[in-house]
Amino acid sequence: MEQLLLQIDQHKTDMNAAKPSNKEELEAFRIKYLGTKGLLKTIMGEMKHVAPENKKEAGQLLNEFKFYTENLYATLAANFEEQTSETMQEMDRSLPGNPWPVGSRHPISIVQNKIISIFHRLGFSVAEGPEIEDDWHNFTALNLPENHPARDMQDTFYISQNPDWLLRTHTSSVQIREMQKGVLPLRIICPGRVYRNETISARAHCFFNQVEGLYIAENVSFADLKQTLYFFVQEMFGDKVKIRFRPSYFPFTEPSAEMDISCLICGGEGCNVCKKTGWVEILGCGMVHPKVLENCNIDSSKYTGFAFGMGVERITMLSYQVKDLRLFSENDVRFLKQFTTAL
Ligand code: DAH
Repeated sequence: MEQLLLQIDQHKTDMNAAKPSNKEELEAFRIKYLGTKGLLKTIMGEMKHVAPENKKEAGQLLNEFKFYTENLYATLAANFEEQTSETMQEMDRSLPGNPWPVGSRHPISIVQNKIISIFHRLGFSVAEGPEIEDDWHNFTALNLPENHPARDMQDTFYISQNPDWLLRTHTSSVQIREMQKGVLPLRIICPGRVYRNETISARAHCFFNQVEGLYIAENVSFADLKQTLYFFVQEMFGDKVKIRFRPSYFPFTEPSAEMDISCLICGGEGCNVCKKTGWVEILGCGMVHPKVLENCNIDSSKYTGFAFGMGVERITMLSYQVKDLRLFSENDVRFLKQFTTAL
């Protein structure tokens, strides 16, 4: 045993003195000590000559030595990697990292999500429909029969392959699809893109986004509509904002109204945004016309409902004071990156 201890000590001294200085020397070190015919294997082989009463102790010594040798080799190899790696040597750790630009939500999405979450709290769920619609869902079922003059209110893109198809001019078409399902009461909002054949300007575009709302149940009144929209405006623009309703006309509602809010820019004093009136229009609304209910097989003597429709671009422009609606679709990063924080 004495002998073995001495031998091991000697090997350890040799190994520590070895200090390989290139890859070849490192490999030679590995072969000499750890290789299949290396020193470690040879000493392990000598175990068979050790007297049985010493086997346990000798085994422990050798295992320890094996562990020592493997560790030493691993440390040498790691140091060596670090020293010889050119990239490591050349890297300037004080340089700033590569910028990793983070995208942001489009302002229209931010506002649309906020609208959805406000109505969500009142129990409205989201319903969606197709952007390519047929005449019946977009017009006729909404009490706008063919040749009705009110169709002129919405300049329409028709699809040449089929005269019955068009790009929906409003998301009111989704109302019809949902009412046809026959599940009442119904409380939905319908966000989505709509299309109109308009000349593009700072205030109008040939595509834009709307959120339509619909509530059908027994005993729904105009007061419910007003209170719902009042809640929406307060949550959207804050509790200082005032609202007013003006009588209006839509074929699918009776009575119909348009709702204005007090101007956010001048607080009602009168400025360019509100054209000196102190008020800005934000949506159309009304009580669902009985004919529309009947068109969807809903008993209009039992059920009533209200509906409203708003333009998301208009609300976004008011919220962020954007003066030109075309900015929303130009994909200019300088414009878009300003909207990193939610409203
Ligand atoms: N669909 C109308 C539009 O696009 C907006 C609208 C007005 C929707 C009144 C409604 C409503 O549901 O009741 O101009």
